[in-house]
Formats: sequence, structure tokens, C-alpha cells
Amino acid sequence: MKRIFSGVKPTGHLTLGNYLGAVRRWVDVDQHRAEALFCIVDLHALTVEHDPARVRRLSRQAATLLLAAGLEPEHCTLFVQSHVDEHARLSYLLECTATDGEMRRMIQYREKSARERARGGSVRLSLLTYPVLMAADILAYGTEEVPVGDDQAQHVELTRDLAVRFNQRYGHTFTVPKATHPAVAARVRDLQDPASKMGKSGDAGGGVVFLLDEPEVVRRKVMRAVTDSGHDVVYDRAERPGLANLLDVLAACRGAGSDPAVLAGEYSSYGDLKREVADGVVELLRPLRKRHAELVADPGYVDGVLREGAARARELARPLVDRAYRAVGLMPPV
Ligand code: AMP
Ligand code: TRP
Repeated sequence: MKRIFSGVKPTGHLTLGNYLGAVRRWVDVDQHRAEALFCIVDLHALTVEHDPARVRRLSRQAATLLLAAGLEPEHCTLFVQSHVDEHARLSYLLECTATDGEMRRMIQYREKSARERARGGSVRLSLLTYPVLMAADILAYGTEEVPVGDDQAQHVELTRDLAVRFNQRYGHTFTVPKATHPAVAARVRDLQDPASKMGKSGDAGGGVVFLLDEPEVVRRKVMRAVTDSGHDVVYDRAERPGLANLLDVLAACRGAGSDPAVLAGEYSSYGDLKREVADGVVELLRPLRKRHAELVADPGYVDGVLREGAARARELARPLVDRAYRAVGLMPPV
């Protein structure tokens, strides 16, 4: 059966961007059509300054939210990255496959390290090697498809390059995966800053909708979204990015086949459009919030899912990573 792998970092509360760009497809489509693994990639949360207690709390919250969103343990494997040693084990071999130059070219590294340095902070070495760990996450499972938002395209390309290079050098070991992106809302923008993606840590300006935001909070954030000058409602990503973002979100809320450019024709004012977007998002998140409240009351259930998920993941990854260890020339244990 086809293998699918994807992950989410516990670096902040999950956002509408995470949901529309990735999680919704995991729930609606991916878990039903393949052997699908979804991972709380907690090791990745240590690449920037972090608070240990917060990472722990956010990891559990992310798992609870993914179940609330509709991942079903009968249909997919949900687990925490650090519970499965094979990720870190394989990452080292891939560090011996990747080059320094390749790592330094990664857009996210360049942006994040520049920001960190501008603040006078230091950059952890793991921020540079992070895409290699991500490649290990993917390759350890013989993954064919990686459903992610647009921002991860470059990392999945790197993963492909590493798989091909490793296979050429040491014999066929890894499946070469490909990224898949949603048709709309592959990159949801910050409502206050449409030039940036809506990200977990960009909450200061109120432009980030979190999955657990109260309906009134969602409404307020949407109604205050930055739109562009002009009054007519047209879909133009380059010239009217704020408006295009709202139309993308609305199309995503309406579901399959909804086209943001066509939706634009249905509205004559920004106010009407925003009200409709706010309603759409509130309704989209309502069942998720309800289910989340139920699951929070049952932490034993979430623990059980993660325990079984890790066991299943280990079972899948171990033989493949062992094979890679042998292929590069490491002596088998005697
Ligand atoms: P992260 O929050 O970086 O761990 O991302 C988890 C998943 O959500 C990845 O597949 C991302 O590509 C996706 N994602 C994160 N932010 C957005 C966004 N603003 N729009 C679309 N997808 C996103
Ligand atoms: N780097 C991804 C992000 O920031 C998270 C991630 C880590 C991931 N490992 C992965 C996504 C493997 C897909 C597959 O969103």
C-alpha cells in the first residue's frame, strides 16, 4: 500500500494555515487511501530557542488537535517523533550524504537565521541541519507522498535529492518521495501582513487564526484583516494579496471545486466578504473545537493512541534504517 508521511512542529498553537494547508487533507483524503503516518515532530521544535515545558505541552496539544480534526487511529499512525529513535539514527547518515552548501541554500534557514542574527541571538547548528532530519523523517518509512503546504516544497525537493544520491552511491535503499499540495490555500497569509505566511509564532499582530480561538476572536481577526486599497472585489494575488488571501480562505472553507476567482464575483464590498469568511471559518472550526474539548477530558486515550502509533512506526522504520546502516558500510552488531 502507498505510504504517506507528514508532520507538524510543536512550536506554537496550530493555525488555520496548518489546517487548510495540510491537516484537512490528511483527515479527509490521505488517511483513507494509503498507509499514512502523521508525526508530531518535536525534535524540530528544538532548533530555535525553546521552553522545555512548553514544547511538552504543545506536543500533547498538537496530538489532541489532530485527533479532534479527525485523524482516526484505525486508519493512520499518529506518533511523536522523539519516541522513535530511527529518525535521529537516519538523520546522521543523511548528514553524511548532504553537503554544507546545499544546507545553506535552504530558504527557511536563510530567513530564520538572518532574523535570529538581527536580534543579536545565536543560531543553533540544528537549524542548519533541520532539513536533513526532515528528510530522515520521510525516508525512514519508504514514503511516496508528503502532503504539505507550499512552504515545505524546497525541503521535500532536498529529500528527493538525498534519496537519489544515497541510492546511487550505496545501492537502492530509499523510495524517492514527492510533495503534494492542496489546490487552494497551499499558503495561507497572515491577515495583518499578507506578504508573510500565517505562522504559529506570528500571533503578536492578531493576523493569525488559531484552531482553538473562540468564535468571537476569529471574527474579530477576520474583520480586521488588512485588505488593499480599492473597493471592488477581484482576485489578484500580485496586486491585491490581502483580498486574495481572504478569497483563498473562503474557497477552502467552501470545499472541493470552489474557485477564489469565481467567488470574487459574488461580493461587492470588502465588509460582506469578510463577514462571509468569518462565518465560514467559525463553522469549519466548530466541530474541531467541540471534539477537542472532549478529548482533553480523556488524556489516557490520547496517550494510548501515541503509544500504539510509536510502536507501529518503529516496526516500519527499523528494518529500512538498519538496511541503510549496512549499505553505507557500518559493521553489523556482532
Ligand atoms: P509547521 O507549522 O511549520 O509545522 O507546518 C505544518 C504543516 O502545515 C506543513 O505541511 C506546512 O506546510 C503547513 N502550513 C503551515 N503554515 C501554513 C500556511 N500558512 N499555509 C499553508 N500551509 C501551512
Ligand atoms: N518542516 C515541516 C514544517 O515546518 C515539518 C516537518 C518535519 C515535516 N518533518 C516532516 C513535514 C516530514 C512533512 C514530512 O512544517
